[in-house]
Amino acid sequence: MRRKLIAGNWKMNNTPEEARALLAELLPLIKGASCDVAVCPPAVCLETVYKAVSGAISLGAQNMHWEAKGAFTGELSAAMLLAVGAAYVILGHSERREYFGETDETVNRKTRAAIASGLIPIVCVGESKQQRLNGYTNAYVAYQTKIALTGLSAEQVRSIVIAYEPIWAIGTGLVATDEQANETIGVIRAALREAYGGAADDARILYGGSMNAANARGLLNQPEIDGGLIGGASLKAADFAKIITDASNIA
Ligand code: PGA
Repeated sequence: MRRKLIAGNWKMNNTPEEARALLAELLPLIKGASCDVAVCPPAVCLETVYKAVSGAISLGAQNMHWEAKGAFTGELSAAMLLAVGAAYVILGHSERREYFGETDETVNRKTRAAIASGLIPIVCVGESKQQRLNGYTNAYVAYQTKIALTGLSAEQVRSIVIAYEPIWAIGTGLVATDEQANETIGVIRAALREAYGGAADDARILYGGSMNAANARGLLNQPEIDGGLIGGASLKAADFAKIITDASNIA
């Protein structure tokens, strides 16, 4: 049985002070949650968030470099993220692929480095609107998934998290239907099964893309959907708490 994971991706929002205020509102609302919860704040807030949540929520970063150290201005290593309490790291988010030159190959390097260091990667995959319209969704997400995980063992794949995030649904208010999301996540799991056998049944695959307090329950009720990666709605304590409650009630 896969435990549901609700992860908030704050993107480039919240100073440390704002992070503390948001968490002060959120924490009382999610006491007794029985799903896994993570927040992924901007790097400058990692330490603040770690201290503020005192174990109630896991911490995730939004990106990392694959090298352990060196002349990579502006980058952070896995060891640095671990040192401030991160357990997860989002890798290959479509915004990083689109605006910051991430490729399937760099996502794979980062994924291998994260796993080797003990961080749990949340690897993002997802098709564009044009790819969906042209009927390439299944082939594309299966391909992206396989490239991202190249070089991992089945044992390593068991603990991984993948986020299926159709690009057309991110930050747009457009959401995949429950059935579309379930079906595509099923395709990703089938690709994992083909490459890694039974480990595919342990890997968690989240849905992301305009998941909110109103639509989360339907999505989370789908058998293939193991949780959510939530952007906009994770910035509002009441909305994020409602999603966590829905996930807990299903889990
Ligand atoms: P959204 O973002 O919930 O604001 O659509 C999701 C994501 O980009 O992870």
